[in-house]
Amino acid sequence: MPAPASTLTSAPSAPPTPIAHAAAAFDFWPLDPAYTFLNHGSFGSVPHVLRAMQDRYRDEVERHPIEVLGRQCRERLTRVREEVARFIGVDAPGLGLVTNATEGINAVLRSLELRPGDVLVTTDHVYNAVIQTMRYVARRAGAEVRIVPIPTPVRSPKDIVAAIASSIDARTRLVLVDHVTSPTAVVFPAAEIGAECARRGVEFLCDGAHAPSMLELDVSALQATYYAGNLHKWTCAPKGCGFVWANADTRGRVHPATVSHFLDSGFDAEFDWQGTRDISAWLTVPDAIALWRSIGAAEVRRHNRDLARWAGRLLRDRWQTEPLVELDDAEAEPLLGSMVAVTLPDAVRRGHESPEALQAALYATHRIEIPIIAWAGRWHCRASCQVYNRPEHYERLAAAIERLGG
Ligand SMILES: Cc1ncc(COP(=O)(O)O)c(C=O)c1O
Repeated sequence: MPAPASTLTSAPSAPPTPIAHAAAAFDFWPLDPAYTFLNHGSFGSVPHVLRAMQDRYRDEVERHPIEVLGRQCRERLTRVREEVARFIGVDAPGLGLVTNATEGINAVLRSLELRPGDVLVTTDHVYNAVIQTMRYVARRAGAEVRIVPIPTPVRSPKDIVAAIASSIDARTRLVLVDHVTSPTAVVFPAAEIGAECARRGVEFLCDGAHAPSMLELDVSALQATYYAGNLHKWTCAPKGCGFVWANADTRGRVHPATVSHFLDSGFDAEFDWQGTRDISAWLTVPDAIALWRSIGAAEVRRHNRDLARWAGRLLRDRWQTEPLVELDDAEAEPLLGSMVAVTLPDAVRRGHESPEALQAALYATHRIEIPIIAWAGRWHCRASCQVYNRPEHYERLAAAIERLGG
């Protein structure tokens, strides 16, 4: 009998076939093959070919510093912005290049003119640096941060939207959510949250630090007021490539965290020049986008998501614990990206005084790099899945945790 349409079958489950032309992965990335690298999500490695391109741009700047960084800067960065804008589905004049998502989010939050009693809403899956920024801007204004719990395992996008919707009231100024959550690796239903915010007349800041290249991103479909993200995670651009976008109604009010010559000269102009900066990483971004297109971005996304589901089930079954997102039900399908978080067995926690100590032990003793995260009273690991990862990497992790807990 065929399986019911709404249910994914949990077994047998095979890992996805590696993408053939990306199979020589450790030739492609400088990662040390002596280590099992399961943390592309924090800071991935930059492929050799893109590092070489960045070096070329650096050389260009050093050969003609005033010509490139002075006279050509605006035009060159405009071309980068236009490329990024097409890639993520926004208009280039509303796009600002920043060093990272933290800086982009700071620009938006610090530009808000909050009043005493205003409320900023987020969830308990928010990234730590971001909640700190929210607290900082709220306390300066006598405003408040409201944190909405989203229990795990997360089973349905509807549950997330309902929890956020029920926390919006007349005092709410802005809702901020991660598009892909950092501590728990859940893909949030950004379009539905954006629609709810638009319906209620509340601004929506979507933190897409992990989204570009992990998801097929069309920011224009999200009804976001603001969107910030990184190209140095899943797009593999050199580190220091972030962006922030603001819609046409708000961009006149949003200023970079570093104000420079071009205050009130237009959003893009203000962001393009924030003092003397190394622009070589951003100049490399069109090359990074082209690289993923040539490999097959959709195929990579599918491979990584299928590997995440397979790895999540493997770890759950080996450790007899819970993943933080439902892995077997079709309703939960949109919640999964290229990372998966799985609760660790209690025994391994008893043997280590902190998540950092366990993470360091895995690295030192087992040569496995993976973040160990304390969240909602439990410890879990967050496994990333990039095209260079193979099923045996997760088998190795499963065995190492079993040994460390024994
Ligand atoms: C959801 C989220 N927001 C923001 C950030 C910050 O990114 P960056 O350190 O590049 O500013 C991260 C980093 O992992 C993240 O996961």
